[in-house]
Amino acid sequence: MEVYSILIKLLILGPTGSMGKLISNLALKDNEIDVVAACDVTHIGDDLGFISGVNDPNKIKISDINYLQEVIVETKPDVVVDFTVAKATEKNCKICVENGIKCVIGTTAMTQDFLDEFEKLVKTKKAPAVISPNMATGVNILFKMASILTKYLNDWDIEIIETHHNRKQDNFSGTSLKILDTICEALEVKKEDITKYGRTRGKGLREKGAKNEIGIHCIRAGDIVGEHKIIYAGSGEYIELKHTAINRNCFATGAIRAIKFIAKQKENKIFEMKDVLNL
Ligand SMILES: NC(=O)c1ccc[n+]([C@@H]2O[C@H](COP(=O)([O-])OP(=O)(O)OC[C@H]3O[C@@H](n4cnc5c(N)ncnc54)[C@H](O)[C@@H]3O)[C@@H](O)[C@H]2O)c1
Repeated sequence: MEVYSILIKLLILGPTGSMGKLISNLALKDNEIDVVAACDVTHIGDDLGFISGVNDPNKIKISDINYLQEVIVETKPDVVVDFTVAKATEKNCKICVENGIKCVIGTTAMTQDFLDEFEKLVKTKKAPAVISPNMATGVNILFKMASILTKYLNDWDIEIIETHHNRKQDNFSGTSLKILDTICEALEVKKEDITKYGRTRGKGLREKGAKNEIGIHCIRAGDIVGEHKIIYAGSGEYIELKHTAINRNCFATGAIRAIKFIAKQKENKIFEMKDVLNL
């Protein structure tokens, strides 16, 4: 028997950004996805095909994000993908979920208050979502490995170092904070009790021999896409667990996987990439 798959009607928020362009490019070429609209604060009226490098004009013109509600009513998307800025995501994804649209959110640095409110909306509006600070397969494997390694090396010193391009708006990165959460969960400690955010001159120094703290550090330089490193240091030896994003394709392909995953979900909750990747 032939199996017919239903096209996923997709709305893209932030299609002119670094991530938005890549996701638009992949989505426009994917035969399981029908891009029905794209909204941004810039390039209003421009053709999404040209903006995203497909170099083929298509019917989608970039709409003004201020008319998001009208765009939703007109195009009836099933799924929205948002890689923008935290304040915008908090406003726009709320509008989307209130309209029963399933969200895939890659934006980082949303507030805990928003996430709590969003989780309630996901349940009441019956619109499941994926939220992940890092949609790369390798990083999600790194989370899993960090959890395992931490349990074996729970009396070693642990430090997290993240490096990103000089345009990055937030620090620490959402990914490094997720690594921190993963390690604290494995150690069964509260992160407030154990974390030292940076070790600048004279501040945040590790007390001599202290084992009960995790240092987290960030570097902003050039056009580095993203590097996350965890150092586990014992006596006379150390292990480094490191993920390097060479380009943004790994995040964009992850976002497309998340879009296809959430389109099929019936359980009204917030999923993570580990669910998408079945880790
Ligand atoms: N989850 C992941 O795998 C992953 C990977 C890379 C980046 N990110 C995150 O995704 C977000 C975007 O990253 P980027 O590198 O593409 O940034 P970018 O600055 O290149 O793009 C941001 C986009 O948001 C749009 N925008 C700005 N203000 C807006 C508003 N008020 N309403 C709607 N749209 C608005 C911009 O016009 C642009 O299209 C950041 O939060 C970044 O940390 C997540």
